[in-house]
Amino acid sequence: MSVKSQLLKDRLPRHVAIIMDGNGRWAKKRGNMRIFGHRNGVKAVRAVTEASAELGIDYLTLYAFSTENWSRPKSEVDALMSLLVSTISDETKTLMKNNVQLRTIGNVETLPQDVRDKLQTCIIQTSNNTGLTLVLALSYSSRWEISKAVKGIAADVKAGKVAIEQINDDLFVSYLETKNIPDPELLIRTSGELRISNFLLWQIAYSELYFSDVLWPDFGKEDFYHALLDFQKRERRFGKTSDQLILNK
Ligand code: IPE
Ligand code: IPE
Ligand code: MG
Repeated sequence: MSVKSQLLKDRLPRHVAIIMDGNGRWAKKRGNMRIFGHRNGVKAVRAVTEASAELGIDYLTLYAFSTENWSRPKSEVDALMSLLVSTISDETKTLMKNNVQLRTIGNVETLPQDVRDKLQTCIIQTSNNTGLTLVLALSYSSRWEISKAVKGIAADVKAGKVAIEQINDDLFVSYLETKNIPDPELLIRTSGELRISNFLLWQIAYSELYFSDVLWPDFGKEDFYHALLDFQKRERRFGKTSDQLILNK
């Protein structure tokens, strides 16, 4: 029986987030430049986006470029930015065909103008699509997002729009980049690294974590189905006991 056919349609996550890691090592193993790995990573992006759209998953968030990634050699950063521009141009048609809406989270103002323009065009063009929402995390870090939220709340308190007593989890969430997006039920990281690297720290409070040794360019639909199947075997207790969950069924 194929892995896909074992998936329970009514128990799929609404939101999957992925830390796409291992492009550089994938290229190095083949004696190539790191950018060769990034280019081949696009195939994996296509595969998981298509699989998510086919399965009816509502949100897929991909960590594409972190705040910390600005510290990489300029040549790699430049190459990644060009790759972003060409990929968005090439893929917009497929996003339209698959009814996918594009959104971004992160400090996009720090991206080069041509990247911002391409993103904006694609976001507008796909804005009426009603299937999967593909969220690209670009120039994103969770600590940046949280500090920005705190600043926003402080400003609104000062302006008298928010009372300190109103500050709670729900209000805080409305100041995050991921406003109106449910928390990911599943977070996947490829390449065998066991860390979060400043990604969605608030939002993954109760996410199931799945680590795969596969390097990102090799990550395909089957690997994605395996992650989803593993997720479906987990017992999500949210602080309760196992017995309580069985009784509530
Ligand atoms: C992930 O692959 C892509 C980005 C961070 C942009 P890496 O470039 O981090 O690849 P490794 O971890 O060096 O193999
Ligand atoms: C995390 O990968 C960022 C992205 C996938 C975009 P890195 O490869 O930059 O993470 P660290 O620095 O090794 O933790
Ligand atoms: Mg890496």
